[in-house]
Amino acid sequence: MTDQPAQLTDQAELEALSKRAIDLREQIRFHNYRYSVLSSPLITDAEYDALFDELDAIEKAHPELVTPDSPTQRVGSDLDERLPKVTHPEPTLSLGKAYTLDEIRAWKDRIVKTLDTTASLSYVVEPKFDGLTTVLTYTDGVLTLGATRGDGYVGDDVTANTRTIRTVPLRIPVNPDGPTPPHKLVIRGEVVMHKSDFKAFQEKMREGGDETRYVNARNTASGALKQLDARITASRPLTMYAFGIVDTDDPQAVPRSQWETLNYLQALGFLTSKDVKRFTDMEDMLTYIKDFENKRHSLDFEIDGLVVKLDDLPTYDALGVVGKNPRGAIAYKFPPEIVSTKLIAVSVNVGRTGVLVPAAELEPIFVSGATIRQATLNNFDDVKRKDVRVGDRVMLKRAGEVIPFVIGPVVAARTGEEIEIVPPTECPFCHHPTIRREGEVALYCSNDECPERVARSIEYFVGRGQMDIDGLGMKGVRQLIEKGLIKDEADLFALTKEQLEPLEGYAETKIQNLLKNLEAAKQRPLDRLIVSLGIPGIGTTVAKLLVKYFVSLDALRKTTVEELDAIPSIGPSTAETIVEWFTKPHNGRFVDKLIAAGLRTDSDQFAAPKSTLFDGMTFVLTGTLPSMTRDEAAALIEANGGKVSGSVSKKTSYVVAGDSAGSKLDKARELNVKILDQAGLLALLENQQS
Ligand code: IVH
Repeated sequence: MTDQPAQLTDQAELEALSKRAIDLREQIRFHNYRYSVLSSPLITDAEYDALFDELDAIEKAHPELVTPDSPTQRVGSDLDERLPKVTHPEPTLSLGKAYTLDEIRAWKDRIVKTLDTTASLSYVVEPKFDGLTTVLTYTDGVLTLGATRGDGYVGDDVTANTRTIRTVPLRIPVNPDGPTPPHKLVIRGEVVMHKSDFKAFQEKMREGGDETRYVNARNTASGALKQLDARITASRPLTMYAFGIVDTDDPQAVPRSQWETLNYLQALGFLTSKDVKRFTDMEDMLTYIKDFENKRHSLDFEIDGLVVKLDDLPTYDALGVVGKNPRGAIAYKFPPEIVSTKLIAVSVNVGRTGVLVPAAELEPIFVSGATIRQATLNNFDDVKRKDVRVGDRVMLKRAGEVIPFVIGPVVAARTGEEIEIVPPTECPFCHHPTIRREGEVALYCSNDECPERVARSIEYFVGRGQMDIDGLGMKGVRQLIEKGLIKDEADLFALTKEQLEPLEGYAETKIQNLLKNLEAAKQRPLDRLIVSLGIPGIGTTVAKLLVKYFVSLDALRKTTVEELDAIPSIGPSTAETIVEWFTKPHNGRFVDKLIAAGLRTDSDQFAAPKSTLFDGMTFVLTGTLPSMTRDEAAALIEANGGKVSGSVSKKTSYVVAGDSAGSKLDKARELNVKILDQAGLLALLENQQS
């Protein structure tokens, strides 16, 4: 479309484009006002950019449609009328954008063509900070002026505010060994709020009941920098990253390359980004840029892309500007992470623990290659706290691969038709009442036998990392429940070929594989089985630990809170959860069934020699140990190189005493032999192994 001469476009199409341009201008003006004047945007930055880019494209293809008041005709302004103004020594322009690597290649081709050179070029890649451009003037090394970007030509004077930012040096060089700056040095950088600082700040505001105004780090940083009272700015955790020199009265005194400039700024005492890199090879650089997208989340500041700059500054300057963008640099924009769309309904999922999780059903929105239709709302307390309503326009965050979550409603976009979301009083699947547990925000289905819970719990049981039974997804599990073939996980192991044959989707090989997988799953190690039980909060680490202390599932189910609590790394609440789980009658029946189904429910840890830790030591066992028989304890000692004797002498290394220990314990005390209980014995082994 860009290359098409205007006269070839037919009249009807031109009219349509003209109408669209008028419409876009109106929308952009409105959203710009919401953003800059009211500090209350209705759409995300990415959506704003999309409107702007569409208008820009129409006007580029049809320059006759450009109007003097079109938003494309000026550099965006964020001037604040309450603050004094300063004129920048050099206009702060904006950057041309690239959304694909090909567009970066095209940018380079244009440069090479303009320069008419075959000489190799080098480039510097920097993060594109999503903060506020700030211009700082140093006179004889002293900070004399701090200004915002404003409209690019004139900015707000925020000198007192910038002085409160710890990473803004009040005098340069900060270190006496640093270079002496020229008489006048004007630098540019970006003021941001680190993600970690923003989180802590939000937390603080939440405690004070005033969190809703601070939607994101960028707006919060912007609000902080434009305060009339510098004490408020000082109380906000701001950071400044320096990335360029704008002006100096002694050009000889400053570096002639961007790379050296960054080093120079650092030597003067400014904070510069550690994530900068210089390239001479275009393809290497593009690989780096592509890979950086995954890295962006690990940075402690928000970025919306990367900036590619020609390293050689005289060349950069010589290339000049096109429109309001310098030719020598380009911004590569990442796909947007925050988008907004309409919330059309709320559905409720029930998890295996019975927890009710609200999900937002959304008007589909296409973002960077994927259509989003659903987002999580976490829990009903969260819904209430954020005051999300059906019909709201909501902001969504999409980080990495995870399901997007709803940040909150765009309150200003409300029409009054929105409907409040009420937490359900009954489970949508089994209609039993919902309950809350003390100290928890989640809402639960009160029915332990809720079919949806059962299905979810079986789905978990057969899943990867648990019993790992291939060939059974959520659909398959539901089918088996519906046909009445299974009521719980243990029933899976009693499935027969004859039962499966009449089912839809079960061909001969599928049946064979499933039965084979079920048979194999019976031999999974005990720790995997423990994880698969779905005891709240018991994952692989705790399960492995338990297996070290308990010889079988049967021993574990008989344990007490005290005994578990005595195990290092198991706290009282985990101990309570485990005991409580086994105490529930239906779980007890379930464990009985698993044992009866022939699953491996004992630990093999005592089978083979494990260490030579007890070499040369003699142990005497007496009394009843809490969770092992004396034979099992003896096997454990012998497996680690020790000997077990029936009588106590001076040569006895340890007496291991349980309940109702008698004369052997007295003898040990008499002869000053060290005494251990079961936990003490296991702790000896534990320390050895860790
Ligand atoms: S160089 C022509 N480097 O992006 C201006 N700008 O679209 C040259 N920005 O508001 C700017 N990080 O504040 C440059 N590493 C970086 C940047 C960066 C963020 C901002 C800049 C300006 C906008 C330009």
